[in-house]
Amino acid sequence: MKHLVSTPDLSTAEIISLLRVADHMQEINSRPQPKVPALRGRTVATLFFEDSTRTRLSFETAAKRLSADTMTFSVSSSSVNKGETIRDTIETLSSMGVDAFVVRHKSSGVPASITRWTQASVVNAGDGWHQHPTQALLDAFTITRELDVDAADPTPLKGRNVAIVGDAKHSRVARSTTDVLGRLGANVMLVAPGSLLPPEPATWGIEVVDSLDAVLPTTDVLYMLRVQRERMDSAHIPSVEDYCTGYALTPERVELLPPGALVMHPGPMNRGVEMRVDPSEVAGSRILHQVANGVAVRMAVLFTLLASPQSQGDDVLLAQTGGQS
Ligand code: CP
Repeated sequence: MKHLVSTPDLSTAEIISLLRVADHMQEINSRPQPKVPALRGRTVATLFFEDSTRTRLSFETAAKRLSADTMTFSVSSSSVNKGETIRDTIETLSSMGVDAFVVRHKSSGVPASITRWTQASVVNAGDGWHQHPTQALLDAFTITRELDVDAADPTPLKGRNVAIVGDAKHSRVARSTTDVLGRLGANVMLVAPGSLLPPEPATWGIEVVDSLDAVLPTTDVLYMLRVQRERMDSAHIPSVEDYCTGYALTPERVELLPPGALVMHPGPMNRGVEMRVDPSEVAGSRILHQVANGVAVRMAVLFTLLASPQSQGDDVLLAQTGGQS
């Protein structure tokens, strides 16, 4: 792996390998001093042209726990505001010695373009409606751990029903997570009104359902999407109240889930819109687990991209990261 731009670029074997490396990273994160020298001498630059809390801070934490140097690019105080292009910005930072760029941008395709302008690795931290590959990996990591499946199985989620609910049309998370969970064997369905479905749902190869209440009793993982008010005009839903009547998670809908079902959300949540229940009062909520697991998964991604090939085997990885076999 040189870059991580899109989940379809990953083979299923690479997805499983990343989840396995993330297991090692989770063990490191459980130590009193969660820091190893694996990426000493490497530099990771985070460039977020769009707001973020979870993704940016977890990538920075991940890089630091692997002893990489970090460079945080603040768009609001940069020469982008004087008209400097993204390409010139990348070439400028590359000349200072960057090994990996972690990039978020509101336009689809920007991380892919950046791969042509630098020798460094590029990780897509979310681009427009297109892709958010590390979110998909942390979702898969969370589900496989929480459902206690056999991680060595090439289709560990076979027979599990995942309902992805809400604004799939504008969601890079839905595009990425649907792909990864489907390839791990899950039966993924989109649950949304027609106006919030992507234009090409058939090409996603998954079932589309318009009634949330109908699927809840057979759902193993209920994945709520954020209503992306900044990416939609008011024509997509007649009103927020109308949307919530059909698709918000309420205490009554939580009761319809089977025992042991997981409730997930990529964040940030719109409380009172798609989330009309306090997640801290939902036994199956794994929303904060997703955030915590994001650090381990991003450590796994950075390690896989930046550690030397001879450090990538399980035994060497354990030795290098100081783990116990
Ligand atoms: N899930 C996610 O991408 O959250 P942030 O926008 O806070 O990074």
